[in-house]
Amino acid sequence: MAAYDCIRPMMQVAYGAASLNSASGEDISGNYGDWERFSMVPYPAATHGGRYVSNYANGVAADAYRTWEEGGPMPAGSVLAKDSFTVSASGEVAAGPLFAMEKMASGFDADSGDWRYSMVTPGGAIVGQTGGVGSDKVAFCIDCHLADGRDSMFFLPPEFRIN
Ligand code: HEC
Repeated sequence: MAAYDCIRPMMQVAYGAASLNSASGEDISGNYGDWERFSMVPYPAATHGGRYVSNYANGVAADAYRTWEEGGPMPAGSVLAKDSFTVSASGEVAAGPLFAMEKMASGFDADSGDWRYSMVTPGGAIVGQTGGVGSDKVAFCIDCHLADGRDSMFFLPPEFRIN
């Protein structure tokens, strides 16, 4: 998608300023763009503000995420990231937030299924993180993600999956 190709490099630099790191020190907001991408094209996600989103998984998560249909819990250290943008009626493209979830060690937070949710603004600021600053601002992520799916993950609509 041309709009994504155009805005993607800028989004990655902007999110990167947030220095959102995983528990093991992996730079999530700066490096997610180099991870394996699971969406063929950006697709509209009603659940994430109607923005166009793309899904990425880090090295720890990739194999298990690819076989999402097989079920079972994700390994600790798995990180899934989803960038987003909007296209206005007049065709203007604008970056949206970066959504991330990281599977923490067992015991991190029973209420979130041990997932740490984070949201980063298009300007590169961390809005909130489960168990950290602004934890209340990402509580709504947990409520919806727990609703269904495999270990709080939904994967993507079949028509937008790679393969
Ligand atoms: C109303 C429900 C809902 C809310 C609220 C929500 N999500 Fe999601 N999320 C989904 C669905 C459904 C998918 C998969 C399909 C899609 O992308 O539309 C998804 C996918 C994701 C993915 C890709 C991993 C996966 O599940 O396959 C990440 C990362 C993610 N969401 C993070 C977040 C974060 C962070 C928040 C809060 C700031 C959040 N989500 C809020 C429903 C929700």
